[in-house]
Amino acid sequence: MIAEVAGVLASSKSAIAFTGAGISAESGVPTFRGRDGLWKRYRPEELATPEAFRTNPKLVWEFYKWRIKKILEAKPNPAHYSLVELEKMGILKAVITQNVDDLHREAGTKNLLELHGNIFRVRCTSCNYKEYLKESGRIEEVLQEDIPRCPKCGAYLRPDVVWFGEPLPEEVLSKAFKLAETADVVIVVGTSGVVYPAAYIPYIVKENNGTVIEINVQESGITPIADFFLRGKAGVILPKLVDEVRRIIE
Ligand code: APR
Ligand code: ZN
Repeated sequence: MIAEVAGVLASSKSAIAFTGAGISAESGVPTFRGRDGLWKRYRPEELATPEAFRTNPKLVWEFYKWRIKKILEAKPNPAHYSLVELEKMGILKAVITQNVDDLHREAGTKNLLELHGNIFRVRCTSCNYKEYLKESGRIEEVLQEDIPRCPKCGAYLRPDVVWFGEPLPEEVLSKAFKLAETADVVIVVGTSGVVYPAAYIPYIVKENNGTVIEINVQESGITPIADFFLRGKAGVILPKLVDEVRRIIE
């Protein structure tokens, strides 16, 4: 089946990728709905909310500091690099990710749309202050605070990520939907496909007669509309797929 899927990719004109936590699993970043995704006794749905931050900002920050530390230990894996390869070949036009871990950027993906924000960005809960911690060099400083505060106004800072019940960044979402409308192929990698509106992306591609290729270790909410389901680890399957594509186009 890999050869057939590679053929589809090789002849595509406007392929996109849609990724979730599973693409970073082999980098050591815990997924959300897997067993290792639990932090203490909490589910992400309990901590990644505006309500949780309002009632217990210290606890929510503790959870995010734990995640930041985990992600700092992680490096992109062959799955991230395979998507970079496909972009360099001119086949992949964009990577639309639900991940906040920055690993697609670290790997070198150029056209990246982060639907759920980025864990290395913080923003003020009161003024318009924003900061990308990898650029400002303040990661360690922030990790040492109980509740990091805005350098401009002193109010609490929060991670610049999308919490449950919050709207997605409008501009990013509309760009993603537009790409999905015109994509002839979407490669769906490592997502349970149950969190909306993000999970509409493959459905939009399908509705516009695009081909849905899914890579996952198990079935997901997207599998019912997948034209091709490649079962296995993203870091194993994607490099094989890229090799096949290269063989076809060279
Ligand atoms: N290769 C491929 N797929 C994998 C791998 C792997 N090595 N390991 C796990 N998976 C799959 C799982 O089978 C599952 O379908 O990755 C998926 C991970 O699902 P979730 O943990 O639900 O992550 P995701 O779909 O990204 O969650 C969506 O929910 O909590 C929110 O905002 C958060 O962006 C996140 C959103
Ligand atoms: Zn402020």
